[in-house]
Amino acid sequence: MSTVIAITGWDAAPWCERLQRALGGTKPHMLGEDFDPASIKYAVVWKPPHGFLASLPNLEAIFSLGAGVDHVLTDPTVPDVPLVRVVDTDLTNQMSEWVVLQTLFHLRNMTAYLSQQREVIWRPLPNQPTADEVRVGVMGVGQLGRDALRKLKVLGFDVAGWSRSPKTLEGIPTFHGSDGLDAFLARTDIVISLLPLTPDTRGILNMSLFTKLARDGKLGGPVLINAGRGGLQVEADIIAALDNGTLKGVSLDVFETEPLPATSALWRHPHAVLTPHNAAVSRPEMIARYVADQIASLENGGGLINVVDRKTGY
Ligand code: NDP
Ligand code: OXD
Repeated sequence: MSTVIAITGWDAAPWCERLQRALGGTKPHMLGEDFDPASIKYAVVWKPPHGFLASLPNLEAIFSLGAGVDHVLTDPTVPDVPLVRVVDTDLTNQMSEWVVLQTLFHLRNMTAYLSQQREVIWRPLPNQPTADEVRVGVMGVGQLGRDALRKLKVLGFDVAGWSRSPKTLEGIPTFHGSDGLDAFLARTDIVISLLPLTPDTRGILNMSLFTKLARDGKLGGPVLINAGRGGLQVEADIIAALDNGTLKGVSLDVFETEPLPATSALWRHPHAVLTPHNAAVSRPEMIARYVADQIASLENGGGLINVVDRKTGY
C-alpha cells in the first residue's frame, strides 16, 4: 500500500510528517518526488495539479484535505474512484467562530466605528438593533451551515436556512430549492453563504440575488457574508451593490481569484471586511488521523465515510 500527498498552495511538510505518524511510520510519497505511479493506492490532496490523479493507474481512493472538493472536481481527468472530503468538529467550530464574528461585526456597525476611530471621532451611532431584531439566513445547511445556525440562534438572531433538499431543524425555519429561494431572501437581512462550489451554485451570489434581500431590516441595508467559495460570488456585482447601496456591507473569506489581486476595489472598500481564505483551516494534527483511519478501514475490508456524490459535486 502506497500513499501520495499532492498539495499546492499549502506547506506540505507538516502533512507528510503527521500522516507518516498516523499511518504507523509508513512514509507517504510527495508530489515532485521520484516514485512508481503504479504503486499508489491512496492520494491525499489539496489542489492537485490537473492530470496528476489520472496518472495513478491503481488509485483506489482520493482524500481531499478540505471540506470542499471543487479543487479536485474541476480537473476533468479525475478518475472515478471514491472521493472523501473533510468533516471535522475542529473545522466546523472554526467556521462558526468566523461566521459569528462577522455577523456580530455587522450587527454592531464595526466598519463605521473603525473608520470613526481612524478619524478620532467619538460618536455613538443611532438605532443600534439587537440580535433578535435581525434576520440571518444561511445558504447551505450542511455540516458547517447547521452549526453556524445553531450558534447564531443561541445569540438571539432570527435565523433561517436554505438548502437544495428539504430539511427539518428544531426551532429553525428552512427553505429549499430554487422555488424556496426568493421567500428565504425576502426575510433575510444578513445572508451567509456556506455553499459548496458546483455547476449549480457558481455565480449564485450576484446582483439579482442581492436585490431580493429584505430592504426593511433594522440594519439599514442587507449584508453578505461568504466563506463558501469565491466562485459562488460575482465580485463586480458585489462592488457595484456596495457602491449603489444594494448591499450595506460584506465579509468575504473567499475570492474568484486567490490571492485576491491587489487591483481589486474590494481591498480598500470601506464597507468590506476581507480575510485570506482562512475562516476554517484544516489542521494536520486532526485531519491526518481522520485520513489514516479511513485508509485503515479500507485495508481491513471496511468502508469509507463522507464520500462525495459525484453527481451533485459535493
Ligand atoms: P456540506 O456538503 O455538508 O453542505 C452543503 C450544503 O449546501 C447542503 O445543505 C446542501 O444542500 C447545500 N447545497 C449544495 N448545493 C446546493 C444548491 N444548488 N442549492 C441549495 N443548496 C445547496 O458542506 P459543508 O457544510 O461541510 O461545507 C460547505 C462548503 O464550505 C465547502 O464545500 C467549502 O467550499 C466551504 N468551506 C470553506 C472554508 C473556508 O475556510 N473558507 C473551510 C471549509 C469549507 P442539501 O443539504 O440539500 O444537500
Ligand atoms: C475547505 C477549505 O474546503 O479550507 O476545507 O476551503
